[in-house]
Amino acid sequence: MAMSPESADKIPDRDECEELMARYAMLPHIAEHSRQVMRVALAVADHLKPEVSINRKLVTAAALLHDITKTRSLKTREKHAASGGALLRELGFSRVAEIVEQHVIIRDLNPDGGIEEKEIVYYADKRVMHDTIVSVEDRVRDLMIRYGTTEAIREQISRNRKQMLVVEKKIAGFMKTTMHHALQTII
Ligand SMILES: [Fe+2]
Repeated sequence: MAMSPESADKIPDRDECEELMARYAMLPHIAEHSRQVMRVALAVADHLKPEVSINRKLVTAAALLHDITKTRSLKTREKHAASGGALLRELGFSRVAEIVEQHVIIRDLNPDGGIEEKEIVYYADKRVMHDTIVSVEDRVRDLMIRYGTTEAIREQISRNRKQMLVVEKKIAGFMKTTMHHALQTII
C-alpha cells in the first residue's frame, strides 16, 4: 500500500511511544532498557557539534520503540528488528520503522558519510545492557554469553562487534565532547 508523504513521516511523541509500549505489552525490564537507550541516544544527540543536525524526536521515538516486538519474540522466535520495523510501518511510522529494522545490524553503513539517527539509536542500544550503561566490549561479552550458543552465532556477534566499533568511532567524530563526558550527563 502506498503511503502519503505526510503519513510516512509521522513520528510518535513520547506519550504515544509509551502508549504503544503498553499496547504491545512490553515487559517492564524491556521498557526500562528502552528508556535508558533513549537517555543515552539523547545524551549523544545533545553533544554533537553545533553544525550537525539530527531529528531529536525521531531519535527519541526509535529508541523507545526499538524493541517493540521483543516481548512477543520471546515466544514466537521471530526476528524482532524486522518484525518491529514491519509493525511500525503498518502504523504509519515509516521513518521510525527504518531505524528499528536496523538496530541489530546497520545496512550499508558508510563510515565516512554524515551521521544518521539510526546510528545513534543503534549505538545507544549497544551501550545499554539491561538498563546499565556499559562499554561496547562489555556488551559484546554479554551477547556472547546470552546468545553465543553456536560457532555461527559467535562469528556473527564478532562481525557485529566490528560494526559497533566503526559506528562508535564515526559518532565520536561528530561530537563536541568525549563520549564519556556526554554519558556522564545522564542521571
Ligand atoms: Fe533489540
